[in-house]
Amino acid sequence: MKRLIAEREKARLGGGEKRIEAQHNKGKHTARERIAMLLDEGSFEEYDMFVTHRTTDFGLDKQHYLSDGVVTGYGTIDGRPVYIFSQDFTVFGGSLSETYAEKICKIMDQALKVGVPVIGINDSGGARIQEGVRSLAGYASIFQRNIMASGVIPQISAIFGPCAGGAVYSPALTDFVMMAENTSYMFVTGPKVVKTVTGETITEEDLGGATVHASKSGVTHFVASDEAEGILLIKKLLSYLPQNNLEEPPLAICDDPIDRLDEGLNTIIPEQPSHPYDVKKVIEAIADNGEFLEVQRQYARNIVIGFVTFNGISTGIVANQPNYLAGCLDINASRKAARFIRFCDAFNIPIVSLVDVPGFLPGSAQEFEGIISNGAKLIFAYGEATVPKITIILRKAYGGAYCVMSSKHLRGDVNYAWPKAEIAVMGPAGAIEVLYNRELKGIEDPEERARFVAEKESEYREKFANPYEAAKYGYIDDVIEPRNTRFRIIRSLQILSTKKDSNPPKKHSTLPL
Ligand code: HXC
Repeated sequence: MKRLIAEREKARLGGGEKRIEAQHNKGKHTARERIAMLLDEGSFEEYDMFVTHRTTDFGLDKQHYLSDGVVTGYGTIDGRPVYIFSQDFTVFGGSLSETYAEKICKIMDQALKVGVPVIGINDSGGARIQEGVRSLAGYASIFQRNIMASGVIPQISAIFGPCAGGAVYSPALTDFVMMAENTSYMFVTGPKVVKTVTGETITEEDLGGATVHASKSGVTHFVASDEAEGILLIKKLLSYLPQNNLEEPPLAICDDPIDRLDEGLNTIIPEQPSHPYDVKKVIEAIADNGEFLEVQRQYARNIVIGFVTFNGISTGIVANQPNYLAGCLDINASRKAARFIRFCDAFNIPIVSLVDVPGFLPGSAQEFEGIISNGAKLIFAYGEATVPKITIILRKAYGGAYCVMSSKHLRGDVNYAWPKAEIAVMGPAGAIEVLYNRELKGIEDPEERARFVAEKESEYREKFANPYEAAKYGYIDDVIEPRNTRFRIIRSLQILSTKKDSNPPKKHSTLPL
């Protein structure tokens, strides 16, 4: 018993008091402190506390730390079980050894059998250099488990320190990545190697800090100002997710009336069709208590994604944002939304799409980067999703973007439009240019030309820039008053709650990655 207490005490000290102090001085917590912050008090059951590495090279036979640089086990968050691993930077810089990888693989295997999310807290110098290829093998074994667990149990990665080299790929294979400002970074090759290979001089923060990955690469889904905020974000995120793909997401307690009308929505669309507005105001007006957990907030801001509840039902939101690039679909927006839709579909979370999109972003930059195959990802994601899909066309739904955004033809279950919806092959200005090309060439007087265009645009608008043409064909199930939107969505979610749909049996699809 004495020995047990002493050994536990030793393990809890990780790499020792000095290194713990150094960790604190950087504004970081230790691996065990982070677990204590995240899990319900007293719920943590630790595994493999007494594991040590097996390496004898480079004098490591004389350096053993109990737990070997990673703390693993399970516990509960708001009463719901999760498996967790937390890398301990105080032991060999949190670097990954063969035994360390085995510890992580053990809890991942168990989480998959039990059907419980895995949360990984990353703070590591990468592969333990002294272990060579055995460390690389450890990483690859973790990757394989990330892949097997994908779409079966939610996987969440918190980056609370360095995450470099191939090590970045385990978080990248998980569903959500969260980074803390100023203390975390992710890159495949660090600044020194970048300088040697390309001559570029760049800091760690500018190369792979939270801001860069939130706004430029889209690698991180959430940014927290510090670790405490990051922990709260993870808890909030989990509240929207089921434990595994065979369960429904938890039903939240809702005190927001389902028939709450929002008069402001009747006037939120500007009189001028070209004027922007903030679609997040629509989301907040219709969601329970106006609460919205936005995902990838700073990346591809022309599309907004995230989680809300409707009468307590966890729901994914995909909304075009007229406030940014007029809500056009581009490569990044397509990839961002496609990935989110596939996550929701994998975990039985219904999707509500709020549509106001003038089309795909035109131009050579987009074409050369592959808007065709990237836009196809979004079509694919919507078309293969079998969860309830509710679409509200708020204003514009033009061209291919109409088809893409959860249209009836991509198995949209309920498709509503607001009265100012404009559903057509293209906007009036473009359409008149094409349809009356010959006539326009013959009009030289600018005033006469403007009169002609205005008259034809008005005719076009009357015919197409409204929701009734689409409603005539049943492509729109109803034209609804904007203030009723919350109520109409909740009713739809209720009737669709027993929806069953499936895709043909196959090994897997060949979606245009
Ligand atoms: C063994 C390591 C280590 C590593 C750090 N340490 N990284 N030990 N293997 N990869 C040890 C240090 O020797 C030191 O030990 C302690 O951890 C803390 O490191 P410091 O350098 O003192 O800390 P800091 O100044 O904060 O710098 C942290 C760091 C730096 C930026 C992470 O240590 C670093 O650059 N490490 C190497 C990173 C790297 O290139 N890793 C390989 C990536 S490639 P003492 O005893 O002094 O406390 C990779 C391939 C994966 O991971 C492939 C997967 C497919």
